[in-house]
Amino acid sequence: MDQHGRKVNPPPSGYKNHRRNMDNDTLSVNPKRFRPSHSPHRADPAPLSSSASSCRALSTRRQLYEKPFPVYKQPVEVGSFSLDSERRFFNDARQIRYFVEPPSRPDFNLRDGYKDRFVKRDDSIKEKLDHILRWILANKSKLESRVAAASSSPALGVDVVTWRGHLTKLLTTPYETREGWLLAATLFRGTLYLSEVETEASRRDTENRTERHQEMMYWGYKFEQYLCAEDMKASPDPGGVVNTNEAFCTVVQTKLADHKLLFSGEVDCRDRGTKSPAAPACYIELKTSAEICTPKQRSNFHRFKLLKWWAQSFLPGVPRIVAGFRDPDGLVVGTETIHISQISHLIKNEYNCWKPTVCMNFCSEFLSFVRTVVREDSPRVVHLFSWDPHQDVTYTVHRDSSYCFLPPWYVEGMGSPH
Ligand code: A3P
Ligand code: MG
Repeated sequence: MDQHGRKVNPPPSGYKNHRRNMDNDTLSVNPKRFRPSHSPHRADPAPLSSSASSCRALSTRRQLYEKPFPVYKQPVEVGSFSLDSERRFFNDARQIRYFVEPPSRPDFNLRDGYKDRFVKRDDSIKEKLDHILRWILANKSKLESRVAAASSSPALGVDVVTWRGHLTKLLTTPYETREGWLLAATLFRGTLYLSEVETEASRRDTENRTERHQEMMYWGYKFEQYLCAEDMKASPDPGGVVNTNEAFCTVVQTKLADHKLLFSGEVDCRDRGTKSPAAPACYIELKTSAEICTPKQRSNFHRFKLLKWWAQSFLPGVPRIVAGFRDPDGLVVGTETIHISQISHLIKNEYNCWKPTVCMNFCSEFLSFVRTVVREDSPRVVHLFSWDPHQDVTYTVHRDSSYCFLPPWYVEGMGSPH
């Protein structure tokens, strides 16, 4: 994809121009290495030529994915939804916010309001894919009318439904050295649904967060409040309450190699200019990061933070990030606009740095792996894919277990005629 998201033939590097617990009925599969068997430097298709029964594990070694950039079609927004201050779902854009350019010398104190004007979402409530599923049901006839008459195609016309955040984790997996993941997969009416399951390690980390860490998690939301207005003509209201239940989410459709994807992700704000392009190109991601004072800090920012920032925004076709750099006391010392299409240039002088092509090829091959493994079409069956740093991706199979995540209202709603 180029910077406008058009499908292009990328250069050989794919880089410069583009722009456990077991249930009783669990079958545990012995990990047997499944590795791309061809040279990593050739432009071969995804390495899934062996039969499903022999695909037991997938390597995450970066060298295996240093191949030409895969086709990634320009993401198209097919809808959006909102979650209000009580986390109620609305099939509309009522929570969208408008970007207001910060002053050249901003006076933003990110600590302000943490104690007295902060309503934090209850993250012990696991929402799984529920909001996306609600959106799909509300837009079912629109989606189904787009599907070609071919009886072999999935009912929804897409191969994979998931959150953008889950795909971001997949993109960064070949470079991740600290946190593993668990992804539950269910095939239903020809579409694969992927929903994250919290790992034990992540649950422990959440439980053991320091007070300072908890406060710093607020800083990113407070930064958003300084830069966002509720309507086109309004100003930001830094005196208001930060409520992290509220969200505006875009739903986009795209294609990665031969995988038709439908996913949703939270969007911070949109450009309010009268000439702003159509969504998702009008969207702006807001981020905060520690102020950069030394070459080592700059290098770390490029090597670690920009990887995550790039993956998150590249996936839905959000073209720019406005970053706020803050000191240790939470005062913003400067802001900068980072264009997603420029990130590959920013990192090019870093030794042994991450490569967008590795991220996209790994994601594509993971999806091929999952689609080869998951054959039974049933909301009662979950394949749980598991990954820990320096290991291969492996999986276990669970029937009628607590891992099932497609709710009855969705299964029934999808079965009923439109
Ligand atoms: P920053 O991105 O400025 O750190 P997002 O950037 O994805 O829109 O998320 C908004 C804010 O939520 C983040 O701001 C951060 O404050 C908080 N946040 C999101 N995910 C987080 C995580 N995994 N750990 C800590 N904070 C997180
Ligand atoms: Mg943000």
